[in-house]
Amino acid sequence: MKGLILSGGTGSRLYPITYTNAKQLVPVANKPVLFRVIEAIHDAGINDIGIVVGVDDNARQVREAVGDGRRWGVKITFIPQEAPLGLAHAVKISQDFLGSDRFVMFLGDNVIQGGISDLIRRFETSDWDAQVVLTPVSEPQHYGVAELDDNGCIQKLVEKPRQPRSNLALVGIYMFSEPIFQAVNGINPSWRGELEITDAIQWLIDHDYRVEPHVHRGWWIDTGKPIDMLEANNRVLDEIDHHVLGYVDRDSQVNGKVTIEKGAEVINSVIRGPAIIGEDTRIVNSYVGPFTSIYHGCVIESSEIEHSIVLENCHIVDIPVRLEDSVIGRNVIITRSPIKPKAYKMILGDNSQVGIL
Ligand code: G1P
Repeated sequence: MKGLILSGGTGSRLYPITYTNAKQLVPVANKPVLFRVIEAIHDAGINDIGIVVGVDDNARQVREAVGDGRRWGVKITFIPQEAPLGLAHAVKISQDFLGSDRFVMFLGDNVIQGGISDLIRRFETSDWDAQVVLTPVSEPQHYGVAELDDNGCIQKLVEKPRQPRSNLALVGIYMFSEPIFQAVNGINPSWRGELEITDAIQWLIDHDYRVEPHVHRGWWIDTGKPIDMLEANNRVLDEIDHHVLGYVDRDSQVNGKVTIEKGAEVINSVIRGPAIIGEDTRIVNSYVGPFTSIYHGCVIESSEIEHSIVLENCHIVDIPVRLEDSVIGRNVIITRSPIKPKAYKMILGDNSQVGIL
């Protein structure tokens, strides 16, 4: 089998972080979501992976960050998509790469509990034409939605229905065989101008191809918004194996599931897990609370932070109030202003959000 990862899009719901970062490269527990997707596919025994990227700066970043895939022992082929014309369009332009192989398509900003090895095994040993992953959600109108009949077979799939007839959403993980190419060529663009994968799968059902549903009972997160990034960060921090490679001085306390990467230093501080402190980051006279990921090269000094994601090279120094529920981009400086007048002084990018006491 082959893998196909979709990694285009502007990530507008994650502005301002995604003005300068491809959304798939935003780290969750200090590892880009896209890398977690590549690892999940590789863990399932698939080593030939295509990544559909746009033709913008985000695409350049993704190509640079991923490289040829050797780091994971996989072969990566980049497939440029001229415009974001839909998931089924991405399949269409990937036909040369996919050939007649069965493949798994995985959205590059999705994180799923337990990986996909079992799903791949089920599909590989079956004669199904497609397998889709469904999961119950509270707001199905934002997703592709599946209606199952009494025997658990898919009756109907609708993309973002106004009045959903079930709470089972299509998770961004799909397994296909060759007939999908007929399907993506047999459908028309939706109201949002995209070739919807949901319509292509409905086409398969309408033409009597066997589409098998799998209802996923663990967690699954589509990391579209900052709140989703934080949620994914919580889940992943809680589940990964932790290790302490950096330096923790005697005056510090490190409790629970905590990773301290090499070159990191924790001085006179409290780290309460699950948490991760990135390479060469210094935590001094500070508190880092549960569900916090601090990326590489940061300084947290005389401050408190909890339930947050901090990207590389940030300085958070001397902050009198605990930071919580925050996603902080690269090279951000948050500190007390040494000069008068005493006031909040901010240089914030477009679409920033700040909550002050
Ligand atoms: C896409 C699919 C949708 C699916 C969702 C999962 O939506 O079209 O069917 O439920 O991914 O994340 P989009 O992210 O394009 O809005």
